Amino acid sequence: MSSPVFVPASQCEILFTTDQIADRVVAIGRQITEEYKGQSIVLVGVLKGAAIFLADLARAIEVDNTFDFVAVSSYGKGKTTTGAVKLIKDLDVPIEGKHVILVEDILDTGLTLSYLRKLMLQHKPATLKIATCLDKPERRLVPIEADYVCFKIPNKFVIGYGMDYAEKYRNVPDIRLFPEDAGH
Ligand code: XMP
Ligand code: MG
Repeated sequence: MSSPVFVPASQCEILFTTDQIADRVVAIGRQITEEYKGQSIVLVGVLKGAAIFLADLARAIEVDNTFDFVAVSSYGKGKTTTGAVKLIKDLDVPIEGKHVILVEDILDTGLTLSYLRKLMLQHKPATLKIATCLDKPERRLVPIEADYVCFKIPNKFVIGYGMDYAEKYRNVPDIRLFPEDAGH
């Protein structure tokens, strides 16, 4: 296998600017604040991709919230998934009877979130919703929809705002298209 090609992020086309992302995160934060008025929420982020979205979303939500993280194996080092999802890191804190929002970077084939939703439901939360920064509806293999979505995008590979190619680019503050011909 050839080693990944790292194009500088500055050469990748911007899909969403930091301002566009911030506007959507604030809007979703307001919606969640409204819907969960008087209650508290546990945000469960999927490592590592969702860490940055969760950090922003948590601060945009005005009701009491705590957070926890789970980790699954999914995309490995490249752009293609094996389809197999495995839990690598479980919850630290019990969520039974809690209002839980699963927070993900991208809803793609849906395999990861279907697996995690099933797993979370076994813990008997009071309610369970899904927030995702991006949604690629064209790629869905299993029927699952998010309750809160910042942006729907076409079937293109993206980097930045927590999202990686071979663990790189997560720190890029905007969301950019990763060139089709790179990294093959
Ligand atoms: P599934 O297919 O299970 O996948 O819904 C969700 C996970 O796939 C990763 N993913 C991407 N990561 N750029 C990325 O950096 C992308 O364009 C992309 N598409 C899917 C992502 O980690 C997500 O958690
Ligand atoms: Mg990833």
